[in-house]
Amino acid sequence: MLLLRPPGVYRPQGDTSLLCEALTGAGVLRGASVLDVGTGTGMVALTAARGGARRVTAVDVSRRALLAVRVNALARGLRVRTRRGDLFSAVAGERFDVIVSNPPYVAGEPACAHGAARAWDAGLDGRRHLDRICAQAPEYLHPGGTLLMVHSALCGVRSTLGALHEAGLRASVVARRREPFGPVMNARAGRLASLGLITRGQYEEELVVIRADRAAAGTAAVRPGHRHAG
Ligand SMILES: C[S@@+](CC[C@H](N)C(=O)[O-])C[C@H]1O[C@@H](n2cnc3c(N)ncnc32)[C@H](O)[C@@H]1O
Repeated sequence: MLLLRPPGVYRPQGDTSLLCEALTGAGVLRGASVLDVGTGTGMVALTAARGGARRVTAVDVSRRALLAVRVNALARGLRVRTRRGDLFSAVAGERFDVIVSNPPYVAGEPACAHGAARAWDAGLDGRRHLDRICAQAPEYLHPGGTLLMVHSALCGVRSTLGALHEAGLRASVVARRREPFGPVMNARAGRLASLGLITRGQYEEELVVIRADRAAAGTAAVRPGHRHAG
C-alpha cells in the first residue's frame, strides 16, 4: 500500500503487516466500530475501513501521523475519524467492537516524549505502552469486543497474556513471525545484549499478535487465577 509518510512518522514494517493480516483474518471487521491506537500512517486503520468496518477511529500523539492518516484515507475514498491524544485519552467514554494496536515496544532506552523515537521507544523493558493498553482496553471494548495487538516477543508474551487476563480478557497468541532486526534494533543490539534481552550475535526477533476478547453480555468474564491456554 503506497502511503503518504511525513518525516518522523513510522514507516509501516513487518509488525504492521502482521497485524493487518491478523485483523483481516480474524473475522471481526464487518459492521464493526474499530479503534486504531498509535495509528502512524494509518495502514491498520485503512485495512479496517477496507475490510468492512462501519466506523474507524485512529488515535496518535503525533500531529503529523494524523495528517498522514487523513490524506491517506481521502486518497482512497475511505472514512477514518482522527483524534490526537495519549492512548485512550482521546476517546474517553467511548466503546468499540475492535481495538487494534501496534504500540511502541522497543526496549533498552527510557521512553521518549518527542521526535521519531516516540514511535518505538517504550522504556527499559519495552512495556511502557503495552501494560497500559492491557489494563485500559476492557473499559473501551463493548461486551464481546476484541483487542488485537502486535509486539516483539522480546518484551514478554507471558507478561502481556497475564496482564490481559488480570484485566478480565480471554487472551491468546494468534500469529507469530520471525523478522530480521530493523535499523533501530540493529543499532541497539549491543545494549540489549548487555541487558540480557537478546544474545550476542542475535539478528532477528519473533513478532507476535495477541488477541484478547471481552466476554459477551450475559456470559461470565475471565476470572484472574483461572487462565485459559494462550
Ligand atoms: C510502532 S508505531 C506503529 C504505527 C502504525 N500503527 C503501524 O503499524 O505502522 C507506534 C505509533 O504509536 C504512536 N504513539 C506513541 N506513543 C503514543 C501514545 N502515548 N498515544 C498514542 N499514540 C502513541 C507513535 O506516534 C506511532 O505512530
